[in-house]
Formats: sequence, C-alpha cells, structure tokens
Amino acid sequence: MPRYIIDLPFKLAFGAGKLKDVGDEVASYGKKVFIVIDPYLRGSDTENQIQDNLKRNGLDYITFDDISPNPRCWVVDRGADMCKAEACDVVLAIGGGSTIDTAKAIAITSVNGEDSWLYTSRVDEYVAEIKNPALPLIAIPTTSGTGTETTPYSVLNNPEVHSKATIVSDYCFPKVSIVDPELMVSMPPMITALTGIDAFAHALEAYTSTISTPFIDMVALEAIRLFAENIKECCNNGSNIEARENMAWASTLGGIAIARCTTTLPHALGQALAGLTDAPHGGSIACCIGRCIEWALPNGEEKFAKIAQIFDPSLASASVSERAAALPEILDKLWLEILNQNVTMSTYGLKEDQIEELAYIAYSTLYGGIKVFPRVASKSELVELIKKCM
Ligand SMILES: NC(=O)c1ccc[n+]([C@@H]2O[C@H](COP(=O)([O-])OP(=O)(O)OC[C@H]3O[C@@H](n4cnc5c(N)ncnc54)[C@H](O)[C@@H]3O)[C@@H](O)[C@H]2O)c1
Ligand SMILES: [Fe+2]
Repeated sequence: MPRYIIDLPFKLAFGAGKLKDVGDEVASYGKKVFIVIDPYLRGSDTENQIQDNLKRNGLDYITFDDISPNPRCWVVDRGADMCKAEACDVVLAIGGGSTIDTAKAIAITSVNGEDSWLYTSRVDEYVAEIKNPALPLIAIPTTSGTGTETTPYSVLNNPEVHSKATIVSDYCFPKVSIVDPELMVSMPPMITALTGIDAFAHALEAYTSTISTPFIDMVALEAIRLFAENIKECCNNGSNIEARENMAWASTLGGIAIARCTTTLPHALGQALAGLTDAPHGGSIACCIGRCIEWALPNGEEKFAKIAQIFDPSLASASVSERAAALPEILDKLWLEILNQNVTMSTYGLKEDQIEELAYIAYSTLYGGIKVFPRVASKSELVELIKKCM
C-alpha cells in the first residue's frame, strides 16, 4: 500500500434543505458579509431567504453580482476593492463555479493588494505571492459540476491575453461549503449536461492521473458511478431530487478527487480553449476528452477499461484493451445524447490559425496537469492532438 496524506481543510454540509444553516455558519466567521451572488439568483426567494437568515443572526451585508461565466479577473479586482472599502470580514458565495471562483479570488485579493491575475499560476511569468490569509469564505454551489466548493483553485479569465489560469492556494479552500441539491433543480438541461460533464472529467482525470492515490481512486470511481447512473435523469427530469442529490455528490467527490491531485490533459486543453473562445467550461472538456483518451492508449489502459465498464457492464467479458478502446465512443455517444450535438473545438469557434496559440496557453497554464496524464504530450504532440479535436 503506498503512503499518502489526506488533508482537506474545510467543513462540508451536504443535503437537501441545508441552505437554512447559512446564517449560523457565516456568523462563526465575521460580522459584515460580502455576498457574491450568481446574477440568476438576484431577486429570488433564495436570495431573500439568505438575507433574512443573515439578519436573524445579526449580520450586516452588501451584495456583489457582477459575475459572468469564465469569470474576468478585472471583475474580481472591482469586487475586491468594494469588499475592502466596505470593511467586510467574511465572504459568502452562492452560485455556479464562476461565482464561487470569483468570490475565492476576491477573498484573497482584497487582503493582499496585487491584481488578481498576478496570483494565477503561469509558467515563466511573474506570479505574486499570497502573503496574507484570505478572508473566510462560505461557498454554496448551485451547479453540480466544478466541485470548487472543495478545491484549492480559483480559475480566472484574462481576455487581454486570451487566457484562463488558476490561483492554486490553500487560501482558496472555503471554510464551510453548503451543498444543497434543491438549489440545482432549476438548472436547465443544457447547463445540467455541461456541468455534469465537468464533474465526470474531474473524476476521470484524477483517477487516471499518474499521481492518484487509493483514496483518490475510491472517491473518483464513486463519482464516475454516480455520474453514469444519474446524468441522463438529471437532464431529462431535472426535478428528480434524488438524481440531483446523486449528481451533487458526484460533483463534490470530483472536487475532492482533484483537490490534491490536479486536473490533467483534457482540462489543460479545455481551459485554454475557453480562454481563447469563451466556450462553456463543460463543453470545452467534452470536445477533447475522448480524443485525449484515444491518444493516450495503451497507456493507462486498466483504468480507462474500468471506467468503460461502469458505463457499459456488458463489456465485462471483453479484454482490458478492448474495454479501454471502447471508452471514447461511449463518451462521444453520451455527449451527443445530452448535448444534442457532436461538439468539437471548431463548434466553439476555434480557428486553424489559433491551434499553436492554444497549445502554448495549455502548456504555460496547466503543464503540471499535462505531465501527470497517462501519456505526456510534447508541444508538437499537443498541436497534433488539438487538430484531432477540431
Ligand atoms: N475552482 C475549481 O476547482 C474549478 C473546477 C472546475 C471548473 N471551474 C471553473 O468554474 C467555471 C464554470 O462553472 P459552472 O460550470 O458551475 O458554470 P457557471 O458558474 O459559469 O454557470 C453557468 C450558467 O449557469 C447559471 N446557473 C448557475 N446555477 C444555476 C441554477 N441552479 N439554475 C439556473 N441557472 C444556473 C449561471 O448564472 C450561468 O449563466 C469555469 O470558469 C471553470 O473554469 C473551477
Ligand atoms: Fe473543470
């Protein structure tokens, strides 16, 4: 048995109706709350419920909702200035991954001083040190995909350099995450599908990474099983709370799997694609994960075979190689079914003359992930792989 450490410094409250605990949790950390809220929730019953709950706990608050998918670094900087000017001492984030990542970066930037982009990891570029502990963060996800409620990452987009990059710091961990599947029922089928693909990709990438541990394998396999059994039901019948609960748990487990293990090649390509084209995160992964697996085989065969069999138990009698080779097609078919189209990098607007740039961005922003995928891509191999994803 290999030696490893499990070190996950957050409290997790999981289950339908858990939102009601928000005031108690926030009150343990501060008096003036900087609420970062997904714009789709403005004026909703959920927002009213949170405000009432905070007031009942004697908390003062101000609200920030200037969030977009693929969150912009300058929006974080505006939020950080406001948070500091208002002397907030705790941050509460409710929304999709973009909202929670914005809040994580605000919690760091407001007490550190540099522009948020400078805290993101980028090879061969200046990266600012995070000297002061972030403001405490309470995170409440409303999508089941990113698992950001359990990760030390905040992914930001800088349109000036056409790139997405990640703040990697334990200060990104929320103090408390409240995962309430009732908040996910309102996701339309397309957002359900795109975010679900992300949760699955986290689990697959962590499980097949060369630095996985038995703990990560266990967590990731359970996330994959829950995804395989529930994603179609969540897309077709979004009010099924049991299926939503299962997908929420898959997403949280996916986050736990990548928290100490990183995402790998599909995320390196997908994240770079989103930086260049603003593709939705789940779509940017869907259009390359099958090609990445095909390209890696026969490396990592055992684990890819195991995943294929979770989706299609009838493969049990096939050889390991046959099962592993079946996985890309299984995924392509599933994406077609839940996204209603075959997605490629071209679908999201990537042009032939951007391929080299995409390879460069993937390399400089997520090389740590590229090098732990079962087959390690050189820059020229990345270019060839991207062509296959077109
Ligand atoms: N920090 C991490 O560990 C981590 C991991 C994976 C992805 N990410 C990042 O997270 C971002 C993607 O987050 P996401 O996939 O959750 O999407 P998102 O936050 O961008 O939200 C997508 C859309 O769904 C809407 N929405 C959210 N919840 C809803 C609900 N319950 N009902 C109806 N509409 C709802 C939002 O308003 C938005 O328009 C990307 O930037 C990605 O890079 C971060
Ligand atoms: Fe992701």
